[in-house]
Amino acid sequence: MRLVVLHDGSDLAEWRGQARALLAEDVLPSDVQWQVGERAGLLPAESSPAHQPLREAKPAGTVPREFLSLASTVLAHADARRHAVLYRLLWRLTHGERQLLHIASDDDVAWCEQAAKAVRRDMHKMKAFVRFREVAQPQGSVFIAWFEPSHDILPRVAPFFVRRFAGMHWSILTPTRSAHWNGETISFGAGAQKADAPNEDALEALWLTYFANIFNPARLKVQAMKNEMPVRYWKNMPEAALIPGLIRDASARMDAMVQRAPTQPKKHIPAPLPRQPSALPQGSLAELRLQAGQCRACPLWEPATQTVFGEGPDNAHIMVIGEQPGDQEDLAGRPFVGPAGQLFDQALAQAGVERSQLYVTNTVKHFKFEPRGKRRIHSRAHASEQSACRPWLLAEIQRVAPKTIVCLGAMAAQAIFGKNFRLLEQRGQWITLDNGIGAFATVHPSYLLRLPDERERGEAIAHFVRDLGMLRSLI
Ligand code: URA
Repeated sequence: MRLVVLHDGSDLAEWRGQARALLAEDVLPSDVQWQVGERAGLLPAESSPAHQPLREAKPAGTVPREFLSLASTVLAHADARRHAVLYRLLWRLTHGERQLLHIASDDDVAWCEQAAKAVRRDMHKMKAFVRFREVAQPQGSVFIAWFEPSHDILPRVAPFFVRRFAGMHWSILTPTRSAHWNGETISFGAGAQKADAPNEDALEALWLTYFANIFNPARLKVQAMKNEMPVRYWKNMPEAALIPGLIRDASARMDAMVQRAPTQPKKHIPAPLPRQPSALPQGSLAELRLQAGQCRACPLWEPATQTVFGEGPDNAHIMVIGEQPGDQEDLAGRPFVGPAGQLFDQALAQAGVERSQLYVTNTVKHFKFEPRGKRRIHSRAHASEQSACRPWLLAEIQRVAPKTIVCLGAMAAQAIFGKNFRLLEQRGQWITLDNGIGAFATVHPSYLLRLPDERERGEAIAHFVRDLGMLRSLI
């Protein structure tokens, strides 16, 4: 019997080195016993054969590329049998069963597919349910999260958090590993204990208020909610403490909604600026930005790189509202930096308006796209996604309190003036909103970029510049 002791049971390179060497020496799968050094506790790591990969006696055969991808995922699974099953699969692939991975009914293949699925599910849950808490330090805040995954997935999920929270310094602690991001590099360390992570921070109260406000009793499906957000994660999610009360009150709130229904206006919905400021997320603009960074109110957060929140002076006199971020905004985390943003900047310059004096934001804060090959094709946010994002927009308006709002495009115009607004007919017309803010809508710069005829485009851009020119005297 051959004993192979691995330092890191989830590391593809280490397992692969050992497996290739075993294969090259023709060691039968049934003759290998796999152990993980630290957990096995049988051999001290220093004396374990894991330090000296087995010598390759003859070159091992090549394996299909999809095997390596499958193996890399399966290795993150917690089941101690994974190394042996993968080696058996490798052995069979290189001993005449090259098409084995396509036989879904094969026991080894089915076992690995199940394991990979469980790992992917665990990764999905971790992306959704990690909650950071702020720890103030002299050199700036650090955000720490505690999470207990079922499998060894932290190194696989960490790049997601790096992309999502690139601008924060954070640590994610789990019982078996920890990951630390300092804004430039990611490092991994030993596991930790729950007590090493803080319990609550100042933002938590704000997040709870927001969560309670976006909870819709009419949509409540308790079992579906528990399937999507398993109860075992609740203990690390501050908002979970609210759920029993929200469930308990749901039917009474539903009854109240039904009672109110006939009194709703049937057709015309007037300019829908906040009627219930108390229902909006609370805090300063900086706090809103942080909360929005963790927003899960619609599914757009997941494929997107990050939330693209508004930017500009907190007390800007003019707020410009676009539709939704595009590919480049998603990567940069800033609104209007892609092609439409560049056209917008040029038009502002021609109109004599400084962008640095405007607060620029979007109706929807996540990039929505369809993957096509390596490209991500822009896709319009649905009404439900627009309304899930609405509290952020309303809170931005409330916090900045601009004197003037400019809507770029129909989505933004309808978010501010209501569904009956017709951009082609009402473009450039000043409308006073319920709260006294003066507002008008104009076309979206992407529309200008799409105009095929050069002369027509030139005229349309000149019209756009004239619209923006109305802002010059207001700054
Ligand atoms: N289009 C928008 O509406 N907003 C952006 O941020 C970019 C493009």
